[in-house]
Amino acid sequence: MEATEASLPKKNPTAMAFTLTSAAWFALATSLGMIAAGYLIAPDFLANIEYIHFGRARPMHVNAVLFGFVTPGLLAAAFYYIPRLLRTELFSHKLGVFTAVFWNITVLWGLIGVSLGYTQGREYAELPWSADIMVVISFALVGFNFLMTIHRRTEPILYVSIWYITAAVVLTSCTYILGNVIWKPNTGALVGIPDAIILWFYGHNVFGLLLTPMGLGVAYYVLPLVTRNPLYSHTLSLIGFWSLIIVYTHIGTHHLLQVPLPTWLKTIGIVDSIAMVIPVMVVLINLWYTVKGKLGSIQSDIAAKFIFTGTIYYFFVNIQGSMMALPVVQRITHYNNWVVAHAHIGVLGFAGVTALGGLYFILPRITGRPLYSRFLADLQYWLVLIGITGFAIVLTIVGLIQGNAWYNGETIYRTLPQIQPYYIMRASLGLFIMLGAYLGLYNIIRSLYFNRGATT
Ligand code: HEM
Ligand code: HEM
Repeated sequence: MEATEASLPKKNPTAMAFTLTSAAWFALATSLGMIAAGYLIAPDFLANIEYIHFGRARPMHVNAVLFGFVTPGLLAAAFYYIPRLLRTELFSHKLGVFTAVFWNITVLWGLIGVSLGYTQGREYAELPWSADIMVVISFALVGFNFLMTIHRRTEPILYVSIWYITAAVVLTSCTYILGNVIWKPNTGALVGIPDAIILWFYGHNVFGLLLTPMGLGVAYYVLPLVTRNPLYSHTLSLIGFWSLIIVYTHIGTHHLLQVPLPTWLKTIGIVDSIAMVIPVMVVLINLWYTVKGKLGSIQSDIAAKFIFTGTIYYFFVNIQGSMMALPVVQRITHYNNWVVAHAHIGVLGFAGVTALGGLYFILPRITGRPLYSRFLADLQYWLVLIGITGFAIVLTIVGLIQGNAWYNGETIYRTLPQIQPYYIMRASLGLFIMLGAYLGLYNIIRSLYFNRGATT
């Protein structure tokens, strides 16, 4: 089956609510990122306000990008394409809008908790227990709406985007519970090494079973439609999906290669990290062959431009990731800014940029009007592209300086003056991304509510 735009009602309040959510949190999250970056340049920055000091601003930034910006952005597109691909209305828009409101309260509640010092202190699982429960409820509500829509569908065939989005939402509801050790409200943690194992099983699944399948679902939907080409291969989409589910779920221990873990567990993590080449290249070959000969259409469509760029970052982050899982490489790259570079290439360069593409794809379709400003969207594209590419270069250099210094027994304080100029460059590049986020928010609000453009 090819992606088609069935003649369904245009009004989609759920997709609108998630679009606004994503755009607003993108702006807020980058502001928090700037605060964190500021503290790394000058630790006395902002007179040491405890609520936003580095130790709190950092997890606030990370959770805001993950659960405020990227996930809702990719969900907004899903709330648009699911009814279209299934040729049926969404099960419930009332539930959808309620979920979006609840989702926002959840993220806000979690961040206020972290800001006040109520954190469980484990990476990607920092939110306090009460917020964890709310996150699980949010995912369950989204999952229920999706599954009921699938149940009522009039289209018998499930297009690949539907597999990816359903897997992402259902599996994340489960891994979130496990990774946040939700049955232990006081600590949200197990004890010792088993805690690290379960945390990183969940931690990598945030990228592997949430952001990646959601991002790929959007790419698989938008790219064939914009280029008006059929999907290159249904078989490849099957192989890509199942190999992702099988392989990605086993690589969490590559985060723990420097930790006293059983060797067999590390070996599985390393071998499967290399094997990730299969799901990644299969999907990319499928997508790139689908758009072959149509780069002109991609260039002229802002949504496709974002999403195609996302596939290129997807290529880089995965090849880099497979290398980083090799112990000999990780001896230099672990515990330093190399990983932060990789994180931004993946979460922003691939998943975030794809989410922005998804938003720009659905905006004219859910409002029935062209985008408020194509110029602003293009400007945002370039600001984000320059920012993230600059981040990748600058932070990789810092990582190599830090990694080599540590490897050669250098004391940390002697490396600090060397990396200071790079931290200043990172903050400057961050300004590009933050400006892009605020321009995007303005453009999206105007497109949704105050757009006098011609009705399509
Ligand atoms: C082939 C696929 C991938 C592999 C093998 C891989 C490998 C790795 C490895 C080995 C690390 C740990 C580095 C260290 O601590 O020394 C890591 C960290 C990370 N990866 Fe990937 N990666 C892959 C794809 C992705 C993608 C697609 C994303 C985002 C969507 C992503 C996001 C991250 C993030 C955010 C971290 C930082 C985790 C932390 O806070 O320590 N990765 N990755
Ligand atoms: C204004 C733009 C941004 C700035 C200045 C910024 C800055 C930062 C800083 C300072 C950190 C902490 C790094 C450390 O611990 O040394 C960080 C972490 C992180 N940021 Fe950003 N960021 C920005 C935008 C984004 C965006 C838009 C995303 C995703 C869509 C993102 C995803 C992440 C992730 C996943 C981490 C955790 C990295 C890790 O644990 O390895 N950031 N960021």
